[in-house]
Amino acid sequence: MRKKIVAGNWKMNKTFEQADELMSDIMDQLEQTELNRDVQLIVCPPFPYLELCTDYANDSYFAVGAQNVSDQERGAYTGEVSAEMLKSFELVDYCIVGHSERRSYYGETDAIVAAKVNRLLAAEITPIVCCGEVLAEREAGKQFDVVRRQITDGLFHLDADLFKGIVIAYEPVWAIGTGKTATPDQAQEIHAFIRQLICEKYGNEIAQDTTILYGGSCKPSNAKELFANPDVDGGLIGGASLKADEFIAIAKAF
Ligand code: PGA
Repeated sequence: MRKKIVAGNWKMNKTFEQADELMSDIMDQLEQTELNRDVQLIVCPPFPYLELCTDYANDSYFAVGAQNVSDQERGAYTGEVSAEMLKSFELVDYCIVGHSERRSYYGETDAIVAAKVNRLLAAEITPIVCCGEVLAEREAGKQFDVVRRQITDGLFHLDADLFKGIVIAYEPVWAIGTGKTATPDQAQEIHAFIRQLICEKYGNEIAQDTTILYGGSCKPSNAKELFANPDVDGGLIGGASLKADEFIAIAKAF
């Protein structure tokens, strides 16, 4: 059975003190709540707070992820963080790749996404690979073409064994941070399409085992409906992951 995941992407938010407070609130919430243990909770803080979060994760069942990684191995790349460095934190088990904000503000192409995925897999870190169309592409009915290209060019160079280590997040760009969520039907349609692409490339068993998350204004009020879809295996949560009660309420939607 494929893993269900609720991952919080803090983006570039919180001071160290606020991050500490959020983690401590999450721990409090977890103590008070009975969560479905089949759901993997992940927090993805900014780089400087990874150690803070892994310290908390030490005696808990949530996992920690980074939000980005360098496409290069090591050396003179000022400001970059390598997969090897992430790995040296030990409890950093996941890393977001190809988020639409990285693609649009920092020129992350499918080729760069592919290179980052390779670095992470070599370091035994699970990439959470984002895909999704912008509003103009959806309005032109091009969402399937865009997602096919992103998945094919970013991931389908992998052999089957490596592909098994991938988590995918479908995040329609028009829904990110806008308060506008994809309808459960819109989400299910693309998730099923992505699973079909994986099936055609790697076969049905791997397709059925691949976790595909939804992201884009997912909140406690809509998570249940979204996660009820057969091909939606959880969420990548931005804004709502910055408040412990909302984040945990989303995890409880399973
Ligand atoms: P949002 O962000 O939940 O704030 O829309 C989701 C994301 O960008 O991963």
